[in-house]
Amino acid sequence: MFHKSNPKNSSTFARLLIGRNSRKSNRYIVSFKTTSELKSSSSGVLSKMQEMEHEQVLFCTDKKTGLKAIIAVHNTVLGPALGGTRMWNYATEEEALNDVLRLSRGMTFKAAITGLKLGGGKAVIIGDAKTQKNEALMRRFGKFVQTLGGKYITAEDVGMETEDMVYIKKETNYVTGLPEEMGGNGNPSPVTAYGVYMGMKAAAKFTWGNDSIAGKKILVQGTGHVGETLIDYLTKEKAFVYVNDINQERVKTIVAKYNAISVSGNIYTEEVDIYAPCALGATLNSETIPQLRCAIVSGAANNQLLDEKVHAQMLKDRGIVYAPDFLINAGGIISVYAEVASYNKQKTMEETAKIYDTTLFILNIAKEQNITTAQAALNVAMARIQLASRN
Ligand SMILES: NC(=O)c1ccc[n+]([C@@H]2O[C@H](COP(=O)([O-])OP(=O)(O)OC[C@H]3O[C@@H](n4cnc5c(N)ncnc54)[C@H](O)[C@@H]3O)[C@@H](O)[C@H]2O)c1
Repeated sequence: MFHKSNPKNSSTFARLLIGRNSRKSNRYIVSFKTTSELKSSSSGVLSKMQEMEHEQVLFCTDKKTGLKAIIAVHNTVLGPALGGTRMWNYATEEEALNDVLRLSRGMTFKAAITGLKLGGGKAVIIGDAKTQKNEALMRRFGKFVQTLGGKYITAEDVGMETEDMVYIKKETNYVTGLPEEMGGNGNPSPVTAYGVYMGMKAAAKFTWGNDSIAGKKILVQGTGHVGETLIDYLTKEKAFVYVNDINQERVKTIVAKYNAISVSGNIYTEEVDIYAPCALGATLNSETIPQLRCAIVSGAANNQLLDEKVHAQMLKDRGIVYAPDFLINAGGIISVYAEVASYNKQKTMEETAKIYDTTLFILNIAKEQNITTAQAALNVAMARIQLASRN
């Protein structure tokens, strides 16, 4: 069912992951600003872009359709910037900007650590996906994607569906996540869930010496597209699944369908083996981490750590194994990349299963070097980009 691990010597695996030219060194020390430093140190858009090293940001408005969108291209050293579009009712435009800047930067690292020939990009549309989304809005957004001439390729993210990609496709070819009848791989969420499941099993193997999660208590926060498929895998492996969602209808459906246990209130104090954040980001912060009563954190949500350095360190200090989000949720990007690279479904799943070995490698390298797992993953991703930019 899953890719059997053949734990390799970490440095050998690092070379395989990064490329042949990296033989001189197997220790990658890369400095990066933490997310809190990034937010506090500048307020102007260009300064923020420069600091986070974005190549280009496109602001898009259209009076007729009411479109307000931002497309952020973070880095195209390894290839075109591929990343989904998120439609969300942001409280302020600044919140939307910060989100798209952070998310696109994360996509750069995700593509790099996964070994894809892709850069990092992301888009956000400001608005309520339930009430404000329609064909005209999607098509207008597609026209803006087209103006970037392939530097940015879009796909689904929170608030977006496969049918929205079909509308976008009417205006641009730079769109993935298309339905199978149009030559696409469909919604990438099930593949994302499979990758998260692989990463979770690798974290289990690292923590308990055995990757079985049968009988483990697992809290899944967010029961949407990814969360539900993950719950399906977990239930099939006979884990005890605890669920939480702000959407009570979803909770009811999931509890009935998978015999899961609903939890509400302060879920961070729940005594479980694994906490799987599959809703939105920043749930790992100074308030929640001291309350956690789990051995492993491994979930799908992007940007789970409020601050990449501070909160990764807090988890390490508490002895909680953190499977880096941008590594284990890469199944989705593999699925949409498959449309660009012409992989079939089987190859897509095989590539996604490799998340198991990469996760095990990153957890081991972090242990060997006494660094956080987030830092270990970033080091490997950044080394690959640096290597490519030199060649
Ligand atoms: N869809 C993908 O392929 C993919 C790929 C990589 C990463 N991700 C990330 O995984 C996460 C989930 O993605 P999705 O596609 O399943 O989204 P989704 O919109 O289908 O599901 C998200 C679910 O989380 C719930 N939710 C929102 N805020 C919550 C909160 N505070 N507490 C509890 N539940 C809450 C929502 O009600 C919804 O049911 C997102 O962070 C997304 O960026 C998704």
